Amino acid sequence: MKLKFVENIAFYETGDGSNTLINKTTNETYHSKHGAVQESQHVFIVNGLEFALREGHRPLKILEVGFGTGLNAMLTADYHCIDPFIYDTLEPFLVPLEMLQNTNYTRYLKQKHLKDYLVEQYKKQSELDLNPMLVYLGNCEVRIFNTTLEDYESSYKYDLIFYDAFSRHSQQEMWEGETIKKVISLLAEGGVFVTYSVTGDLKRAMKELGLKVERMAGAPGKREMLRATKPKL
Ligand SMILES: C[S@@+](CC[C@H](N)C(=O)[O-])C[C@H]1O[C@@H](n2cnc3c(N)ncnc32)[C@H](O)[C@@H]1O
Repeated sequence: MKLKFVENIAFYETGDGSNTLINKTTNETYHSKHGAVQESQHVFIVNGLEFALREGHRPLKILEVGFGTGLNAMLTADYHCIDPFIYDTLEPFLVPLEMLQNTNYTRYLKQKHLKDYLVEQYKKQSELDLNPMLVYLGNCEVRIFNTTLEDYESSYKYDLIFYDAFSRHSQQEMWEGETIKKVISLLAEGGVFVTYSVTGDLKRAMKELGLKVERMAGAPGKREMLRATKPKL
């Protein structure tokens, strides 16, 4: 089996000084142009990870849709927590090693070595053509599946889902109907779903699936974000 990598991407400097990638075919950036690190911290760490830990989920099983540069995974591993995390992440078009290596994210991490660890293990595992790649980042066991959400099958139900797909302007199908049903089928009872965007279709789909939906203040430069919780039966 051959791992699939993305082509035609370049670096893009965002408003907070952290860089991201831009897909030159679709013109979509991997993070907010207002600030990549700022957005990930606000949406996924503060309103996702911290909230789920406060709700008492331990050890936490996280699913990320869209691994990209690995920023969310590194920020999660960098978060001080003595309990281990399981972090499964889906990426149909892996970022090539040279790009992953040249992000400037080390400066935003308290544990500076995390980025080097990621790069070293990503290199080894991709040379071996392993799918999933298995990467240890501190107390976080990260499995990177080179697949789409649509094709992903798992026996796990996750306590926390980071939904970090490209926006509906380039990937409308990720924000409606069957795809949302699929991702929510992977969420445990009492589990938490967070994403950087709020659309009418998304809110409707979530409510139809019985989730409690909260619109929250977005990351700097964005009005809103969404958090949804699956009821405990
Ligand atoms: C907004 S970027 C994610 C940024 C990433 N979380 C990071 O920290 O760098 C969206 C990612 O979703 C991936 N993607 C595209 N289609 C997908 C699908 N059907 N299922 C899962 N991921 C997908 C893209 O290749 C891209 O890497």
